[in-house]
Amino acid sequence: MVTVEPHERFSGIYWITLEDGIRRLATISFAPGIKVYGEITVNIGDKEYRVWNPYRSKLAASILKEVSLMPIKPGSKVLYLGASTGTTVSHVSDIVGDQGIVYAVEFAPRVARELIEKVVKYRSNVIPIYQDATQPHNYSALLDEVDIIYCDIAQPQQAKPLADNADLYLADGGSIMLAIKAMSIDVTKEPSETYKKEMKILEQRGFNIIDAIHLEPYDKDHAMITARYSRKSS
Ligand SMILES: C[S@@+](CC[C@H](N)C(=O)[O-])C[C@H]1O[C@@H](n2cnc3c(N)ncnc32)[C@H](O)[C@@H]1O
Repeated sequence: MVTVEPHERFSGIYWITLEDGIRRLATISFAPGIKVYGEITVNIGDKEYRVWNPYRSKLAASILKEVSLMPIKPGSKVLYLGASTGTTVSHVSDIVGDQGIVYAVEFAPRVARELIEKVVKYRSNVIPIYQDATQPHNYSALLDEVDIIYCDIAQPQQAKPLADNADLYLADGGSIMLAIKAMSIDVTKEPSETYKKEMKILEQRGFNIIDAIHLEPYDKDHAMITARYSRKSS
């Protein structure tokens, strides 16, 4: 029998147990009938649940690794840097629902086109921003203040562009989640050194680190940093 129950800590997220008896994360689809990345979907009552694959989404991996702060919830305004084709963006769109909004920044043309075709077309709460996240001034006309910035850009600089975006768009007391891919920053360094260096940049820019977790076995040499932003201390 298929069963579903709310996640014990995070609103808008569910545990779904399929016929195989395995419990998986899921979100309620904002766009029923539309799959984004071949995910399993299950109808229960009048809702369609989308199983959330932690091997495809670092946010799902973080939740399974028991991240202590996951600030994205129904109604949140999220600036998402590094949207790619929208795998994680689509689940964030499910969570924030019709009272929330996801500004999805992506600069690679082919990928941005796929994001629009697969996600933006069906989800009125996702606003695509086809821009370079390292130049946040360029999209100031397109968004207001946000509650949360989620950053997953896998580039040589990861904390700095996130902090630059926070200075312009993140509310005082807002939260961030930074997915760090160590090998994109420095292949010669131990990943833990790279994580520490990026966290130091965040601290110097006014963030209080809440949590830093490794994402193995879902992602090798990746960490998720969560932090709160204080404009006064930056
Ligand atoms: C690791 S993928 C993101 C995966 C996605 N977050 C998900 O979970 O579905 C990184 C993405 O960031 C984009 N990216 C990298 N640097 C960027 C920049 N400076 N501005 C905008 N997008 C960027 C890349 O084109 C790529 O699509």
